[in-house]
Amino acid sequence: LESNNLPLVDAIKQHQRNKPMSLHVPGHKNGKVFHHKLYKDFQSVLPYDVTELSGLDDLHAPTGAILEAQKAAARFYQAKETFFLVGGSTVGNLAMIYGMFNRGDQVFVQRNSHKSIFHALQIAGLTAILLTPDFDEGSGLAVGITEPTLKKALRMYPKAKGLLITYPNYYGISLGVEPIITLAKQHSLHVLVDEAHAAHFCLGQPFPPSTLHLGADVVVQSAHKMLPALTMSSFLHISDKLNDNFRHSIKEALSMFQSSSPSYLLMASLDGARAYAQSLSKADLNTILAGVQAVKKELSTIKQFRILNWDDRYLSDPLKVTIRTTTNVTGFKLQEIFSMNNIYTELADDKHVLLVFGLGENALDKEAVESIRQSLHGYELRNEELAMNASQVELGIKQLQFNFDQIRQLPKKQIPLEMAEGFVAAEAIVPYPPGVPIILPGERIDQGTLVEINKLVEAGATFQVEQQLENVLVIDVEDENG
Ligand SMILES: Cc1ncc(COP(=O)(O)O)c(C=O)c1O
Repeated sequence: LESNNLPLVDAIKQHQRNKPMSLHVPGHKNGKVFHHKLYKDFQSVLPYDVTELSGLDDLHAPTGAILEAQKAAARFYQAKETFFLVGGSTVGNLAMIYGMFNRGDQVFVQRNSHKSIFHALQIAGLTAILLTPDFDEGSGLAVGITEPTLKKALRMYPKAKGLLITYPNYYGISLGVEPIITLAKQHSLHVLVDEAHAAHFCLGQPFPPSTLHLGADVVVQSAHKMLPALTMSSFLHISDKLNDNFRHSIKEALSMFQSSSPSYLLMASLDGARAYAQSLSKADLNTILAGVQAVKKELSTIKQFRILNWDDRYLSDPLKVTIRTTTNVTGFKLQEIFSMNNIYTELADDKHVLLVFGLGENALDKEAVESIRQSLHGYELRNEELAMNASQVELGIKQLQFNFDQIRQLPKKQIPLEMAEGFVAAEAIVPYPPGVPIILPGERIDQGTLVEINKLVEAGATFQVEQQLENVLVIDVEDENG
């Protein structure tokens, strides 16, 4: 039975059985040497933190237990090949993009991609053609690229080599992506998908399909986000349509970007996560999802927020629940109220809080829910506005003013953010989470973006910056285009 087939876990267990003496790295010697504050708690897992010993294979040239574990994952995901990642989807995104294109290639990229995608474009020296996604009017969330946008982009940039999409978004929703993948393949584009939030979609209905089965060439998934796997452990899948040259370059890129000492704890957790997902029956899934429904029902009795029901035109992940404030309490403040009651949620924005459920028992502490209700009691309900309307969104397709290599060489200066309109940014500004840059290096800063940043700051968003978000690094030239 595949759900009992854990080749790497078994190999490590077998190794432990012989009570091995460690005269090798890591320095904790199978957990015997450790600080007293951690010693007891770490005891049971440290023996899994081994290294490339005989019988334990090597991630960078696997022939034994790791190869078998990767093959079991590939069978489950119906991939031609699956690679274990120990640096998150981040490393998968870097490797797939670096491996699939040549310096200078033009590639279409969904504008609201995770920063790792933009870092990959930077490292690989690619020319990014940014495609504005469609937005959900009610929530203002980006839901994916539409066919008309891609068609227009193909007309404007007929030499483009690839399409990079994110599916689904952080909130687990997306427009159907099959039409754009099909269109991209008709134009011989490589389709690479950041499926960081979709490692569990292989479980089938009611989860949306994985793009690996919709024609994508390479798909990266953070197993640690939605499967029971340790943080950073992830998968890179390649489809059976990908030829061996590309497979080879991705493999080579992985050996550049991944540690030469990949964690066996993470790899064992990938083996376990895949087998766990495989062990779930339809009845198990029903119980899991019934738990989420029960929580939704309970929360829906609190009037100061509303559980979003997504439009039928979206695919949506039933393990993700987005609540929207119905008072003047911001999403960030709402998240704080949850955490004051010991319920820690995934993400907040100006208006929403995202709750991420797992593939196990899903329930909330009743007392905590009551206490949240009390904390919100008395806030007056407000009429809800649409977060945006369709006329606000252009069918945007834009190339950055400068590519990343040019930016490195151009003179730069720090200026106050409020004076930055019209300048070209030389650094990214990234609210985190979700880690989607609001300004990209090489992008001209416009009034709308500054307003957006101000709104986020006022609502309490956090940004990945060393100091406060007062200044921004911009290109320092009189006429950058000259
Ligand atoms: C869409 C998306 N892609 C990639 C990543 C990076 O994944 P990881 O944290 O596994 O490196 C994230 C992380 O939040 C993400 O949301």
